[in-house]
Amino acid sequence: MQAKNPKDSRTILTDLVLPSETNPLNNLFGGELLARMDRAASIAARRHSRRIVVTASVNHVAFNKAIPLGSVVTVEAAVSRAFKSSMEIFIDVWVEDRESGKRSRANEAIYTFVAVDETGTPVSVPELTPETKLETERYEAALRRKQLSLVLAGKMKPKDATELKALFE
Ligand SMILES: CC(C)(COP(=O)(O)OP(=O)(O)OC[C@H]1O[C@@H](n2cnc3c(N)ncnc32)[C@H](O)[C@@H]1OP(=O)(O)O)[C@@H](O)C(=O)NCCC(=O)NCCS
Repeated sequence: MQAKNPKDSRTILTDLVLPSETNPLNNLFGGELLARMDRAASIAARRHSRRIVVTASVNHVAFNKAIPLGSVVTVEAAVSRAFKSSMEIFIDVWVEDRESGKRSRANEAIYTFVAVDETGTPVSVPELTPETKLETERYEAALRRKQLSLVLAGKMKPKDATELKALFE
């Protein structure tokens, strides 16, 4: 399988915040943002693998900034590293200022998707080659995030999480 670049999977979803999608403070409801991010990440994983993909884990979400009713929100997702059957997807969330049109970063998240066949069995995906400095940083940190996710899910023993342990040595 030919290696791909993050730009091959880059997925951009832009949408408004409507009244039915807000919390009592009239800001975007967290679950609605999670769903938008899951959709964008799922499309990115599918573009990279060209297979059926399922969400395996949500490794990190930071709701750094509230997003008010009426905002224009852009969710940008791209594969940051591919392993055997799993892919890490990095998601950046931007909000557009109504008057200036300037975008500011509101949130970020990291999801893991797995490519599967029709029976739900994991299948191999193409490798990912990062191109920019940011893509390389995300690529290099992805292995320890995978190990952390597997340790927390009880699927890896902490002693085997070599990359993760190296952080504390
Ligand atoms: C995701 C799923 C396919 C993994 O199945 P599994 O039996 O754990 O399969 P494996 O052990 O072979 O793991 C497959 C890959 O997923 C990765 N993986 C599994 N659980 C993970 C987790 N919690 N975090 C990160 N990666 C994980 C494994 O490391 C492996 O990656 P690799 O092949 O790139 O090395 C399976 O758990 C599943 O189908 N879950 C339901 C998915 C779903 O329905 N999602 C929608 C949410 S409702």
